Amino acid sequence: MASALIRPGVFAVGAKDWDRRLFDSLIPLPDGTSYNSYLIRGSQKTALLDTVDPAMENVLLEHLQELGVGNIDYIVAHHAEQDHSGAIPAVLKRYPMAKIVTNPKCKGFLIDLLRVPAEQFVEVQDGEALSLGDRTLKFIYTPFVHWPETMVTYLVEEKMLFSCDFFGAHLATSDLYVTDEGHIQESAKRYYAEIMMPFHTNIEKNLQKLQGYDIQIIAPSHGPIYNHPEFILKLYHSWVFDEPKNIAVIAYTSMHGSTQLMVNHLNEALEKRGVEVKQFNLADSDIGKLAMALVDASTIIIGTPTVLAGPHPSAVYAAVLANALRPKLKNAAIIGSYLWGTRAVEVLKSLVPNLNVTLLDPVMIKGKPKEEDYAALEKLAEEIAGKHAVK
Ligand code: FEO
Repeated sequence: MASALIRPGVFAVGAKDWDRRLFDSLIPLPDGTSYNSYLIRGSQKTALLDTVDPAMENVLLEHLQELGVGNIDYIVAHHAEQDHSGAIPAVLKRYPMAKIVTNPKCKGFLIDLLRVPAEQFVEVQDGEALSLGDRTLKFIYTPFVHWPETMVTYLVEEKMLFSCDFFGAHLATSDLYVTDEGHIQESAKRYYAEIMMPFHTNIEKNLQKLQGYDIQIIAPSHGPIYNHPEFILKLYHSWVFDEPKNIAVIAYTSMHGSTQLMVNHLNEALEKRGVEVKQFNLADSDIGKLAMALVDASTIIIGTPTVLAGPHPSAVYAAVLANALRPKLKNAAIIGSYLWGTRAVEVLKSLVPNLNVTLLDPVMIKGKPKEEDYAALEKLAEEIAGKHAVK
């Protein structure tokens, strides 16, 4: 795979990781990912914007060699996470005169993570510009997309935004630019759900901050480049600002079938009342799909059997995940089965302090559901449909 020309003097020099299937030992990557790095050659100075994951540092170095890059003046670090910063030591080894350009917080993180010497850095402030001769880099602080130090760069002459993780999509593709918008929408939403959604209030502020810039191209650090940026800007706007939809997510697990019967019944009862249901069996669900469903849902229902007097560990995992992702949910409910005693509701409730939801009456039953249990599920469905109908 070669480097690619984006604009005169602006090159994509990063790496595609087609085979990676897990990020942060947590996030599924069904379509791999890319670590995008960009080279900008000005009339006087050369800058490299971000590097790549250290596992692929040789790809980046080969691309620089292929372009005949003899000198790098600046390595701009937008974000300290190692999938973008991890190859900085390898780049410095080849280009020892390069200065790392970043904000003071990111500088501290990079020193902690990579043990780069402090004298290698040039600190920049929010809104500060750096001239490469005929090209100007303007640095914009965008905190918490998704770490506190994150920032982006605006290439003034090309009206191009280098956004790092912001607007990214975990996707390895041969396309330099977005071509299949449906596919990108899926990957970008998955990315938003898993990585950005917990910080949606910060995203809101950063989207507003970027409104002051004429942006013709967005070049993120994961996935293809947006040469029609309104596509991704509109999507982010809807994910952040839109009211939750008439959707209920059922995340559940079942051991001997009783909770499964309850879930099946509740699902139908909700659908009968016009509520869209997204159902996830936690025994084998892709948690990325669960996270994506939570972007739009109004209600989450956690279904759990009782294990050792408490919720099943899979249900605990779903509750902890939903709590960490901070979706715009409005309602939550717990359903499940036990035999001689249960603290499942009490434990699950304690795990979701970040969810700003109305907790509906739980439906916890003894053993296999009876008529009155199904009636309780009908009542729950009626309540959920009623709440969804209120705008
Ligand atoms: Fe792509 Fe937060 O690293």
